[in-house]
Amino acid sequence: MSIRHLALLTSGGDAPGMNAAIRAVVRTAHFHGIKATGIMDGYEGLMKKSFIELGPRDVRNIVQRGGTMLRSARSETFKTPEGRTTAAKNLREAGIDALICIGGGGTQAGAHQLAVEQGVRLIGVASTIDNDLGGSDRTIGFDTACNTALEAMDRLRDTASSYGRIFFVEVMGRDTGFIAMHTGIAAGAEYVMVPERKENVDELVRVLENRSKEKGSCIVVVAEGDEEGGAFKLADRVKQRCPQFDIRVSVLGHLQRGGNPTHADRLLASRLGAAAVEGLLSGKSHCVVGVVKGELTFTPHAVALAEKKVIEPDLFRLLPMLAV
Ligand code: F6P
Repeated sequence: MSIRHLALLTSGGDAPGMNAAIRAVVRTAHFHGIKATGIMDGYEGLMKKSFIELGPRDVRNIVQRGGTMLRSARSETFKTPEGRTTAAKNLREAGIDALICIGGGGTQAGAHQLAVEQGVRLIGVASTIDNDLGGSDRTIGFDTACNTALEAMDRLRDTASSYGRIFFVEVMGRDTGFIAMHTGIAAGAEYVMVPERKENVDELVRVLENRSKEKGSCIVVVAEGDEEGGAFKLADRVKQRCPQFDIRVSVLGHLQRGGNPTHADRLLASRLGAAAVEGLLSGKSHCVVGVVKGELTFTPHAVALAEKKVIEPDLFRLLPMLAV
């Protein structure tokens, strides 16, 4: 079946670079003579028929902007078979032949169900600051979120070293520690707590005792999904054992989701958005488009969703070696 009309949506947590992906989809569709419809508010908008026509000029001046011009949402109704039936019906009624779903794990799980149950032809574009979706070595937004967190850590280091303080910095990442581990190494943190490694408060205390004596200031990066329950709890536990420490906590939160996408995210989003359209044109569906080892890849949704992405193992060795 040929494609004359496609739709696109962004769903779940917004990520810097989503706009660049939207732009790439719309302009690639235009290049191939395909009509593009933007769906507002993710799957919610799909069920409510919140559709807007998008031409190449409608996506000007967004490549550099964070957030998503199509807005985003997390939809409970779409998780029901009735919700997905309505979604598929709305697509058919609007004459839409294929769908592009830009988002992370939740978005792609929804896309998978829509494709399998309703036979909707679709491709997912890997986009989440958490970098926790299979099918792409990096997801759109991860690089920018890391850079934003890193800038905050550099600033915290300035004040920490002026006072000889220990800062516990909490970063996002849902159940994974990609942002924490990558920024921890790049910021020269003394310790990183991630859910992927069983927490070790004894070791943390030992490191802080040694390092704070020698260096004065310390940065401990804590992934929000860490078993200990976040930076505040962890800082309390350490303070109870070492009352002499001057500790402060900084939770970076949604700051990490905003801001202008970096070069890496704009490039990735542009490649993936264009590849999603051309993938559909070449007959691909039910898959996630990503970049694996530098190559554009189309991974079946079921495989991408089942993949357990792991933090590069050498980073766990690197951190203590460099943080002396
Ligand atoms: O998935 C992106 C993310 O920012 C996670 O890092 C975080 O756990 C979650 O979304 C926050 O969700 P919300 O914006 O709904 O508070």
